[in-house]
Amino acid sequence: MGGLLSGLRKVQEADVAGKTVLVRVDYNVPLKDGEVADDARIEASLSTLRYLLEKETKLVLMSHLGRPEGKVVPELRLDPVAERLTSLISRPVRKLDDCVGKEVEDAVSSGSAGDIFLLENLRFHPEETTNEPMFARSLAALGELYVNDAFATLHRAHASTVGVPDHLPAYAGMLVQREIEALSRLTDDPARPYIAIIGGKKARSKLGALRDLLDKVDEILIGGGVAFTFLRAAGAEVGNSIVDEDLLDEIRELIRAAYDMEVKIVLPRDVVIAKEISEQAETATARADKIPEGWIGLDIGPESIELFRKEIEKAKTIVWAGPMGAFELAPFAAGTRAIGEALSAADAFTVVGGGETGEAVKKLGVADGISYISTGGGACLAILRGKRLPALEALKE
Ligand code: 3PG
Repeated sequence: MGGLLSGLRKVQEADVAGKTVLVRVDYNVPLKDGEVADDARIEASLSTLRYLLEKETKLVLMSHLGRPEGKVVPELRLDPVAERLTSLISRPVRKLDDCVGKEVEDAVSSGSAGDIFLLENLRFHPEETTNEPMFARSLAALGELYVNDAFATLHRAHASTVGVPDHLPAYAGMLVQREIEALSRLTDDPARPYIAIIGGKKARSKLGALRDLLDKVDEILIGGGVAFTFLRAAGAEVGNSIVDEDLLDEIRELIRAAYDMEVKIVLPRDVVIAKEISEQAETATARADKIPEGWIGLDIGPESIELFRKEIEKAKTIVWAGPMGAFELAPFAAGTRAIGEALSAADAFTVVGGGETGEAVKKLGVADGISYISTGGGACLAILRGKRLPALEALKE
């Protein structure tokens, strides 16, 4: 998989001086009360933006935010992002009210070197996700050169990621380069044992990745909501915990395949349970296969933490995607915190993938010892699974 970087045109090789550069960033960040709740993705884009600004360029930034499905959704406007970017980059950022059209074109052409424009949410137009050629052409008309630094969106074949490069010289930004270099350590002959830790709310969103990881890793630890569908498939009583009922057969097949391939699957032995998902919830610990009716499993328990910790200590390469529980709420954060601590202490190359898991380790104060925290969720998993990334291919010779 050394091929991931090969043939990639890098922004450092482009003749950008004095040009108007259209930059695809991923500012799909969590918002809370109208403000950016985690600015890791904005922060991660700064190296490319600063590099370009040093070369006297005019910047036109574009991003999606959420999934507005082709309609204007006021809560998904990029104004809070522009505000945060202004303070991080210490320069004014001019947020426009659309991403294509005459007003946008006039505004951009009235700017000069050193100016930063941020276009409105690309996904307010349905043509973005359907990759309409005319829409891609209108976006491309806003710049002389295109840089894609939206690592977290590389698995999407949208107008701003694969359409625009048909019309402009296209280069990979520095975040894209950093991410691919770091993640290549997981795909190119990783040090063994290689463990994947998979969590998050829903089994459905991780099933494909779990299947594809079977011939790549030595062991998979499963926590979070995902674990309950696995436990149920193995015959456990999981009370009112989240279960994807229609996946049980597929999961049984996956467990059998893992057994045949000698990949160890480790499930929680005990879990923290509650009757409601709230800060004030009364909690208890239960055996993972005997959760009483009316109770919901919301975190891995102390015995599971110990079990997972022991496995982590033996590993040389570890990738973690998906929190171990409902970490946003204090009563259910211990499992995610403990796994973060174990990763930080591990004598291994450790990677956290997924916007939410990255947010969790930072929020819980356990990010420092982790080798690499990716800004991508789906894109990161796609790389680990050995999938082709259409938007990355579009940046190759
Ligand atoms: C992400 O957060 O994974 C990326 O921004 C892509 O978002 P999407 O899954 O809505 O395409």
